[in-house]
Amino acid sequence: MNDKQLVDYGPLQSLIGTWAGDKGIDVAPDPDGSERNLYYESIVFSAIGDVTNAESQVLSVIHYRQIVKRISNHEVFHDETGYWMWDPKEQVVMHSLVIPRGVCLLAGGKYSELNDIGESVNIEVSASIFDKNWQIIQSPFMQENARTTEFHQKLIITNKILSFAETTMVEIYGKVFEHTDQNELIRQ
Ligand code: HEM
Repeated sequence: MNDKQLVDYGPLQSLIGTWAGDKGIDVAPDPDGSERNLYYESIVFSAIGDVTNAESQVLSVIHYRQIVKRISNHEVFHDETGYWMWDPKEQVVMHSLVIPRGVCLLAGGKYSELNDIGESVNIEVSASIFDKNWQIIQSPFMQENARTTEFHQKLIITNKILSFAETTMVEIYGKVFEHTDQNELIRQ
C-alpha cells in the first residue's frame, strides 16, 4: 500500500470525511405489505490507501461505516460497512457492502462529472444475482426467505452535499419487494 495521503482517489476523493443527514426515507418489506421509516444517519468515509492485485491492477480504497437510526425512537435499524474502490485504468468504481443480516455484495459501475468544472460527481453501481461480474452472497436462510436479487445505487456528491438513492430487490413474503432508501447528507 502507498501512503494514503499520496493516493489519487479519483471520483471517490470527494467522499472522504464525515457526513450526516436527517432526511432519510426507507421503504422496507413487512408481512402486511410495506413499512415506511423516516431516519437519520451518519457515514464516515476513511482513506485507506491503494492495493495492487496480481501485480497489475491498482485500486484506490476508501472504507466506510454507516449507522442509521429511526427518527421515531432513535434505535439503530441499519448498520452497514464496506469499501469503495476506484480502478483508474478501467475507469470502474466498485462498492463492496456487508450488512449484518447475512448479506454482502460487490457492485460495480461508472462515474460521471455532472458539470464540466467537476463540481459534482455522479456515481452509479449495481449488483445482481443474474450478473456474472457483480454478485450478491447471502446466507442459506436469506436465500430461502428473503433473497436479495438486485441492488442499484446512485450517489451525487458535491463539496458539501452527498445525496444517494438505492433500490434493493428482495423476494420475501411470497412476492418481489422493491426496498428503497434515500437521504441527503451534509459534510460535517
Ligand atoms: C439505509 C439503508 C437501509 C435501511 C434503513 C434498511 C432498513 C430495513 C428495514 C427497516 C427492514 C425491515 C426489517 C423488518 O422489520 O423485518 C429491512 C429489510 C431488509 N433489508 Fe434493508 N435497509 C437498508 C438497506 C439495505 C441493503 C443495502 C440491503 C441489501 C443489499 C438490504 C437488505 C434487506 C433485506 C434482505 C431485508 C429483508 C429482511 C426482513 O425484512 O426480514 N437493506 N431493511
